[in-house]
Amino acid sequence: MRSIADLGDLRGKRVLVRSDLNVPLDGSTITDDGRIRASVPTITALSGAGARVVVCAHLGRPKGAPEDRYSLRPVADRLGELLGRDVTFATDTVGESARAAVDAAQDGDVVLLENLRFNPGETAKTDEERAEFARSLAGLADAYVSDGFGVVHRKQASVYDVARLLPAAVGGLVETEVGVLRRLTEDPERPYAVVLGGAKVSDKLGVIDNLLQTADRLLIGGGMVFTFLKAQDYEVGTSLLEADQVETVKGYLDQARERGVEIVLPVDVVAATAFSADADHEVVPAGAIPADRMGLDIGPESGVLFAEKLKDCRTVFWNGPMGAFEMEPYAAGTAAVAEALVGLTRDGALTVVGGGDSAAAVRQLGFSDDQFGHISTGGGASLEYLEGKELPGLTVLDEQETQEDAG
Ligand code: 3PG
Ligand code: MG
Repeated sequence: MRSIADLGDLRGKRVLVRSDLNVPLDGSTITDDGRIRASVPTITALSGAGARVVVCAHLGRPKGAPEDRYSLRPVADRLGELLGRDVTFATDTVGESARAAVDAAQDGDVVLLENLRFNPGETAKTDEERAEFARSLAGLADAYVSDGFGVVHRKQASVYDVARLLPAAVGGLVETEVGVLRRLTEDPERPYAVVLGGAKVSDKLGVIDNLLQTADRLLIGGGMVFTFLKAQDYEVGTSLLEADQVETVKGYLDQARERGVEIVLPVDVVAATAFSADADHEVVPAGAIPADRMGLDIGPESGVLFAEKLKDCRTVFWNGPMGAFEMEPYAAGTAAVAEALVGLTRDGALTVVGGGDSAAAVRQLGFSDDQFGHISTGGGASLEYLEGKELPGLTVLDEQETQEDAG
């Protein structure tokens, strides 16, 4: 893949950068600006090289039309603060406002376009519709830099199609992220453990399949763990359960046994009467969740057990919180895993936290980024990478280089 340096002298050139600025918002307040901060170095580098930087990004999942609550305006303000320079915000993506902002930009200036997904072409299923929107985007620039790691698994106009229309390069954030994930897939230092949480097993099937070939230990918590407990014929009360996945999970447990992969499940659970911080809750054995209660976190003994199982690991990947950490009574399990990873990082192990939610979780619990080896900005993207899937946003950059080598 070509790096930014391979694009040559950028002075006076308009460079379209695809960043992932999809941050959690409470109204118009950004509750975790991790992705914006992660996007700053590439934008600064381009601006410093004299480029006219045109940043494009999405926020949330609007359905191809403008919606106020998904506007990137608050992000433009925060980006400006972090860059220490004004960011011109275009109130559309490829329309009059965007064209005017790009035309007015001087060398080193930064423009942020409004949410890409306000345009149906961005996420269109047909190649033709996406290509048409990609042509409008390409019309705003002389070169393209792919820096939105969190979206490289999406075959979308600003990630995939536009990279075929302009001289394209990979940004530093994507380079770093891929470099770290490569260390997990190519000969990781062992023992290699993966901690998985989050709501749904069905989102993680592919990656579990793959991890059963590569990891030494799989620690499971979060909402998805109840399908694992059910697969062991445990009563799970009113906990999240994907009944249609129980058989698949039983298959995983068998496969793990055959392959000598240790699957670690919680031994106790915080069980509550409702999904609420004030609900009555108690710690119960994982095999004895009362019929009228739901598990909302792994219990304290499980926290100790998980830390114990991580202690000798040299490589750990973690995706997904262990419980409903946003509510204080159910945050201890996630904090216990974070604490264990912090210790391992100090001892020189490679620890990787994957995904917007997990990253937000550790920050919300008061940990800082530098206590971990790497905090990935991409959840889905990092899981698909570990799954061994082709990521369209990366493949397209490889393809482009190959074509140029041939031509
Ligand atoms: C994310 O938050 O997962 C990335 O920004 C990608 O967004 P998406 O899942 O809506 O495509
Ligand atoms: Mg996602």
